[in-house]
Amino acid sequence: MTQLKNATIVTNKICMDNIIHLYPSLKNYQFKIVNNNTQLKLKTHTIHFIPVPMLHWPSSMICYCPETKLLFSNDVFGQHIACSERFLDQIVFKDHIIQLMREYSANLLGPFQVPLTIALQNLKQLQIDTILTGHGISWRGDNLVTAINEYTQFSLNKQLKKKLTVLFQSMSGVVNSAAQIIMQTSSHQVQFCDLNITNLTKCALSAYNSEFLAIGSPNYYGQTTPLVESAIHYLRGLNLIKGRKVMLFGSFCWSDKAVAIMKEMIENAGGTVVSEISFKMGVNEITQAALINELKKFV
Ligand SMILES: Cc1cc2nc3c(=O)[nH]c(=O)nc-3n(C[C@H](O)[C@H](O)[C@H](O)COP(=O)(O)O)c2cc1C
Repeated sequence: MTQLKNATIVTNKICMDNIIHLYPSLKNYQFKIVNNNTQLKLKTHTIHFIPVPMLHWPSSMICYCPETKLLFSNDVFGQHIACSERFLDQIVFKDHIIQLMREYSANLLGPFQVPLTIALQNLKQLQIDTILTGHGISWRGDNLVTAINEYTQFSLNKQLKKKLTVLFQSMSGVVNSAAQIIMQTSSHQVQFCDLNITNLTKCALSAYNSEFLAIGSPNYYGQTTPLVESAIHYLRGLNLIKGRKVMLFGSFCWSDKAVAIMKEMIENAGGTVVSEISFKMGVNEITQAALINELKKFV
């Protein structure tokens, strides 16, 4: 910026404050503050500014150019991928990009369904030929409909499917064997999240599509394991427990606390615990039958 002494920085008030906070020397620059009603006339093009607060920063804004019907969508419609192709129609593995977009929205936009609904409503007024996102692959032609439909589903919480995410950690195999039984017995399509090998981003994507969650932890010094606690914490932050039906399963040796602790966390996050079961040291024929019985509560 030191090279561009005469530049005018076009942005909104929150963003201006952030810029000056990060780079105090810029406070002497010329700022032009834009908002929802601002149109910036350039030589041949006009830029309309559409603030989309919390998608996914308070300062977030998207821009629209009516002459080219281009929408610069900032974080919205993005994915975490870097590749040489620019548009979805240039990509062979289209489903992979759609999956990445779901993962992106599950992990970034979970708590922001209301602002997203408002933003999508505003976009309906615009004639859009191309969406240029700030992250990853962009959208044009028939693929615009795909992108907008995905986001509409998400804003309405309609992505929830009759899938079951089995999310657990096991230290010595007991909770793992219970998780395997759940996977083999459930009538729903199961997504398996063993926290020893699955990162939280992938767990969020699984939970995003699942109407049902089965969460398991052994007792660990009178608690759940740290990974199970942090997974629940993570999903709660992304609003991915609210509205889900949850089964809790645990394992203990001398004192069973983990399931009760998980129950409190799940209920605080807006989930409904429909089933709870604990195994002392191992799963035997009796407890296996009880587990299968508990699973029926998910139907
Ligand atoms: C580090 C550690 C801490 C444990 N803390 C407890 C505990 O507080 N209460 C309890 O009943 N069992 C405790 N246990 C026993 C385990 O919860 C029990 O063996 C359980 O079946 C292990 O399940 P897993 O095989 O799925 O890891 C502990 C075990 C370990 C290794």
